[in-house]
Amino acid sequence: MSGSDLPLILGIETSCDETGVGLVRGCELLSDEVASSVEQHARFGGVVPEVASRAHLEAMSPTVQRALDSAGVQLSDVDAVAVTAGPGLAGALLVGVSAAKAYALALDVPLYGVNHLVGHVAVDQLEHGPLPKPAIALLVSGGHTSLLYVRDLATDVRPLGDTVDDAAGEAYDKVARLLGLPYPGGPPIDRAAREGDSGAIHFPRGKWGDGSYDFSFSGLKTAVARWVEDGERDGRAPSVPDIAAAFQESVVDVLTRKAVDACVEHGVGHLVISGGVAANSRLRELAGQRCADAGVELRVPRPRLCTDNGAMIAALGAEVAAAGLPPSRLDLATDTSLPVGQPLAA
Ligand code: KG4
Ligand code: ZN
Repeated sequence: MSGSDLPLILGIETSCDETGVGLVRGCELLSDEVASSVEQHARFGGVVPEVASRAHLEAMSPTVQRALDSAGVQLSDVDAVAVTAGPGLAGALLVGVSAAKAYALALDVPLYGVNHLVGHVAVDQLEHGPLPKPAIALLVSGGHTSLLYVRDLATDVRPLGDTVDDAAGEAYDKVARLLGLPYPGGPPIDRAAREGDSGAIHFPRGKWGDGSYDFSFSGLKTAVARWVEDGERDGRAPSVPDIAAAFQESVVDVLTRKAVDACVEHGVGHLVISGGVAANSRLRELAGQRCADAGVELRVPRPRLCTDNGAMIAALGAEVAAAGLPPSRLDLATDTSLPVGQPLAA
């Protein structure tokens, strides 16, 4: 099949605070439109589920229309609809899944309820072409931190390790709050860290060298909180850039070391890093160095594709359709804790 013979997949993502709609054919990205409600949550320091659900409802139709317009196609050109069935916030997922069912039913095309986490990995194909098989994937987002052995995006994704407490992005968001930086905390910590000295403070490396592929970030968060409190008690002005840089170094040091170790130990020559935290400049830099040293080829999507979007869901939908898996039924249920090993929801 030539590129234009491949099915046109409409992808819908509403698992958290971004209403994402993307259009994809195979590995070709045709459009990627996102409406975010992040500003409505910022003053609460985290996503307010009911506010997110309402925002998805309001943004859905206009965002679908924008995606169609920027791809230069009509709704009637769509050959299949893919939607995030989980994991994510219950109400937010329901809005996306209900909309996707309505589009699939109205257009009389297949519906695929897919896994948000695997979508974060699949999106890399839109930038770098088909993912080599097998590959190791490091998935680092606001809700998840996982190392995956990916034989096939549609059918064979095996978890090697996970966080035992906070996700990496969650640690960024909590530490930003401690430092008086805005939500979401990843981008402001990334920026502040560039002005700081990562060697000024040594924060602990959770589950470092324990022989597992698991992660832990809650002890690090507590260490940062203690450092800030002790500074206030002793009258020492905390240096936000130094704390940000030292915290960030601890996170990316463990993430990159375990990811590269997983490649070496499994004899896998390709690492893909994805999810919102993969937008981090220091993570990208250190992963690049360590992969080069270990002879591993690194793939990281551009920052815009790392954070939540609809194109990633369309990209996984395209894989699932190409694998010939049966479409989801119209009574497809959302699953707030859909396991990462299940690319297609039951
Ligand atoms: O993948 P994502 O957009 O949503 C989830 O599925 O969770 O990830 C959001 C997370 C937030 O915790 C945010 O602080 C983090 O990604 N993030 C970053 C950066 N940009 C976003 N973390 C570190 N550095 C960044 N530049
Ligand atoms: Zn995500």
